Amino acid sequence: MDLHSFQCWRVALLLLLMPCGYRCMSVHILDEDPVHVIPGTSLVLQAQINHGPLEEVSMVTWEREPETGSPPRKVTVATCPGKNIKCVDKLPNAHVSAEQQGTTLKLEGYTPEDNGVYAITVTDQNGVKTTAQCIVREYEPVHHVSVSVNVSHSILVCGEAWGTDPQFSWLYERDAISKSVGSVSKDGKTLYVSSAPICGHFTCMVTNKLGHSVATYTAAPCETEGKGRATTAAVVCLVILVACGGVLAFLLWRRKRRYNSRGERLHEHLDDSI
Ligand SMILES: *[C@@H]1O[C@H](CO)[C@@H](O)[C@H](O)[C@H]1NC(C)=O
Repeated sequence: MDLHSFQCWRVALLLLLMPCGYRCMSVHILDEDPVHVIPGTSLVLQAQINHGPLEEVSMVTWEREPETGSPPRKVTVATCPGKNIKCVDKLPNAHVSAEQQGTTLKLEGYTPEDNGVYAITVTDQNGVKTTAQCIVREYEPVHHVSVSVNVSHSILVCGEAWGTDPQFSWLYERDAISKSVGSVSKDGKTLYVSSAPICGHFTCMVTNKLGHSVATYTAAPCETEGKGRATTAAVVCLVILVACGGVLAFLLWRRKRRYNSRGERLHEHLDDSI
């Protein structure tokens, strides 16, 4: 291999190895996948386009298809053709804008029909396409909160069906969980109760942006406390009874004694006078 062809190979290799910098266009959606949208509000998706100085975006297309179900029904949300990539919205509630560095899709008055996989396709001046996609779902309220119990290990587990981003918290007799009651796992779903057997009312509360829902587990009433109180009451009663009895006995005894001594004195007196 002569020097010239070696140089050529080296340049070719460099170009090949160069990561999406000079000769490679890329696009990525900036929003965290999946995106959840509260119905009635607006969906906003932003995509960033990266390309080298010699490259140019010649077409931007936003499309949507259902996340599941076949056959996939692809809908064009907007196309932005031509050198100035001016966008034409294909859905009545869509507003799409695009420029060389990025593009924004806005969908007003979001409804569950707008759920799906949104794809952005960018075409360069040579007709090479690059795509990025992102799942969009409606933001769901909290559904079906339940508490299950593992009696043998004093563990309570809170469950929730399909609400978006559920946050779990626990209450014991309507108060926050104190250290004496137990400890909660990091995700908030599991409560490790420190006493066994479990007693009282445990409530799991699940919250998200749309509200909250609760479920309560009612264990046996807290016996020890009730029993303790009853015992104390019984002891107090007994003490009072014994004391009353004692006082009564003492009073009777004193009365009898005084009566007897008075009788004796009377006898003496009579004896003296006789
Ligand atoms: C209770 O929890 C323990 C420890 O996590 C587990 O090993 C056991 O299988 C659980 N029992 C039931 C009935 O779920």
